[in-house]
Amino acid sequence: MTAERRSLMMDDKELVKAAIAAREMAYAPYSGFAVGAALLTADGKLYQGCNIENAAYTPSNCAERTAFFKAVSIGERDFAAIAIVGGRHGAPIGEYCAPCGVCRQVMMEFCDPDTFRILLAKSPEEWQSYTLKELLPLGFSGKDLNR
Ligand code: THU
Repeated sequence: MTAERRSLMMDDKELVKAAIAAREMAYAPYSGFAVGAALLTADGKLYQGCNIENAAYTPSNCAERTAFFKAVSIGERDFAAIAIVGGRHGAPIGEYCAPCGVCRQVMMEFCDPDTFRILLAKSPEEWQSYTLKELLPLGFSGKDLNR
């Protein structure tokens, strides 16, 4: 996987391509399901992630959270979009891979549900775009704790 790189010109197609590249690094010996994610910051920086499994199962991490935690751990707080691809390891991507509930909740912590976009892709030519609000209606966030 490439290191984080800057691209102020990144469009949706490029973001999908970065997720496909990230998927190549998936460590998924137990499920055989390889996922890649590419997270774009509001100022155009890219963070890629893959799923990382573990023999004890529970410590496994999804591709989306790998990307978010890489970004947040070096200070990023403002995000625009994430592209996600997933499917059987070694096989072409056949279906859209939607983020799990835990990853949606992590997005809720750091993203504006009305504007943050989630791209579910099959290829650089075929993807669907959703807002976080569409995939996590009535989401719970820090704002709810302060009411
Ligand atoms: N997985 C992800 O990385 N992201 C998703 O959105 C769905 C699931 C991973 C977790 C596990 O390593 C494998 O896919 C099978 O669930």
